[in-house]
Amino acid sequence: MTATVQRSLPLEAPTPHSAAQAHLHPEKANAHVRFSQLGKVYQGQQGPVAALQGIDLDIQRGEVFGIIGRSGAGKSSLIRTINRLEQPSTGRVLIDQIDIAAFNEDKLVELRRRIGMIFQHFNLMSAKTVWKNVELPLKVAGIPNEQRQRKVAALLELVGLQDKHNAYPAQLSGGQKQRVGIARALVHDPEILLCDEATSALDPETTQSILGLLREINQRLGLTIILITHEMAVIREICDRVVVLEKGRIVEQGPVWQVFGDPQHEVSKTLLAPLQHALPDDLQARLQPEPTEKNASIVLDVQFTGADGSAPDLSALFSAFGGRVSLLHGGIERIQGRALGHLILAVGHSPLSVDELLIRARKLAQHAKVLGYVV
Ligand SMILES: Nc1ncnc2c1ncn2[C@@H]1O[C@H](COP(=O)(O)OP(=O)(O)O)[C@@H](O)[C@H]1O
Ligand SMILES: [Mg+2]
Repeated sequence: MTATVQRSLPLEAPTPHSAAQAHLHPEKANAHVRFSQLGKVYQGQQGPVAALQGIDLDIQRGEVFGIIGRSGAGKSSLIRTINRLEQPSTGRVLIDQIDIAAFNEDKLVELRRRIGMIFQHFNLMSAKTVWKNVELPLKVAGIPNEQRQRKVAALLELVGLQDKHNAYPAQLSGGQKQRVGIARALVHDPEILLCDEATSALDPETTQSILGLLREINQRLGLTIILITHEMAVIREICDRVVVLEKGRIVEQGPVWQVFGDPQHEVSKTLLAPLQHALPDDLQARLQPEPTEKNASIVLDVQFTGADGSAPDLSALFSAFGGRVSLLHGGIERIQGRALGHLILAVGHSPLSVDELLIRARKLAQHAKVLGYVV
């Protein structure tokens, strides 16, 4: 149930072939959350708004699953169908193979206890202490006092707020407020935690500590975590898989290393662009579209997507070029144990033609293109 196990799951949609192998991957046959042809239409002021269309998606138990997309893409609508804060217009949401549309009021209350949720603005009660904020849902559920005391104390310890029991939200930092939010979301020992932009109001350092806490909760308690964020670094940091939504539809999904290493859809490319090693301005200014002098170097953009699973063999690459190779810009980063790289190289004095250089580069890296020439 750890994140590592989930990462090795096959990711294609179930096929007859993989269904036959379901005993090898029981978690695949039994998605924790399954959206099936899900659609959502709101009645907006200017008429109907199709917020979600034809969503087919499986989220596995114990997975940390990321949802990204531009503002208005349908991310919040999608996760709010999981606890029926939003009612689907078409299609189904299955939790542990059970269609939640059929639930009556009692079942719905029970479902919502199995699903915790945290928000960007924490949604704490300002007139109540940290302790009372976390205790409230237990009181509402009619849990006896002694049990409540034990639970609240344990949760505040889990989130590192054992010394803040009597503080009021206004006396807490943003990170501490979100820790209260997390403790409150966990009071009923949920199986699923929904996070809608839960770190978006936090500074980078606090974001790191909250992500660390979420990872710990995922691994220690085995919770399935479904999170929406506009911060790509958050996805890279803790998610196993990611889906990209655009105008209410899924445009791309896969393991994080795959989507980040080789995004296919324009929207994914745009969202991930800030993480890319873009060509610095000074280099851009020096680039010529054609070689103006005989000894001009060819500038190549070479990418390793992590698809072959091994670390980029730079010595093989450089010797294949048969000239003088300098690294102008770029680097390698590791995501989920895969080495992803983006290198901008200048190759000078090579006896090879441009086409031959590209052929050789593409044997050793997944993508290669010519950016231009520099002297
Ligand atoms: N209650 C609502 N009534 C009408 N339109 C809504 C409502 N909630 C969301 N929408 C619309 O549905 C679309 C998706 O919204 P949302 O799920 O909030 O997107 P995201 O979370 O990706 O920003 C947007 O066009 C939004 O304006
Ligand atoms: Mg939203």
